[in-house]
Amino acid sequence: GPKRRVKMKIWRGEGEEGREVEYEVELAEGMVVLDAVLKIQAEQAGDIAVRWNCKAAHCGSCSAEINGRPKLLCKTRVDELADAGEIHVGPLRAFPVIKDLVSDVSWNYDVSRGIKPFHSSEQAPFTMYEEDVERLYEPKKCIECFMCQDVCHVLRTHHKHEEFAGPRFFVRNQWLEMHPMDDEDRLRDIKEKDGVGLCNITKCCTEVCPVGIKITDNSIIPLKERVADEYYDPAKWLMRKIRGR
Ligand code: SF4
Ligand code: F3S
Ligand code: FES
Repeated sequence: GPKRRVKMKIWRGEGEEGREVEYEVELAEGMVVLDAVLKIQAEQAGDIAVRWNCKAAHCGSCSAEINGRPKLLCKTRVDELADAGEIHVGPLRAFPVIKDLVSDVSWNYDVSRGIKPFHSSEQAPFTMYEEDVERLYEPKKCIECFMCQDVCHVLRTHHKHEEFAGPRFFVRNQWLEMHPMDDEDRLRDIKEKDGVGLCNITKCCTEVCPVGIKITDNSIIPLKERVADEYYDPAKWLMRKIRGR
């Protein structure tokens, strides 16, 4: 039959200054939004800035907003969205926009550097129980796409970047805290520096995670519980007073 054409409205601009520009592409079998953007870049607008690497949903670098929702450009099929008539593509909005579809996500790397690394007084290889290994498997799936960071209202709407590490880093903290061989103490940081208490469990992060990490239930809530145990249990509170920490 005749080839179907799809309208793509791509945000073009630098910094906060910009607007959507309309392009059209011919829909191809199995085409993902990244294919469409790269086709437009190759044939109509050579200067479109877009970040990508693996094209296989592994590297996490192609995250952007499609119809206002964070998505991996390489994992989102055009045919599933084409019926709406047009597809809007823009950069992640919780971070400063550099150009077109590329945002500056470096704040996330600063947060990452601020988290105390794995520390063990024991020598690898470690002997671990299967249930521990399973609990550690999920947080390790994170591809650092930062889409959970983009969608969380604490960062996106309330701009609490100074006080709140964001869901991705509660996933990271959970892995460290649940690792049976790790003996670093991070609870104070999780409470005071990373601000786990600012999360009010809206679960938007969990909804967008492309690797299916149950961020809220499996990372954030357990960390909240550990903080509550340590800081709001009267006996432990008294112990900390006595120990002076
Ligand atoms: Fe992306 Fe999920 Fe990792 Fe968040 S937890 S950065 S959504 S892979
Ligand atoms: Fe934000 Fe996820 Fe909590 S979206 S408010 S971190 S449950
Ligand atoms: Fe690597 Fe999309 S290009 S996740």
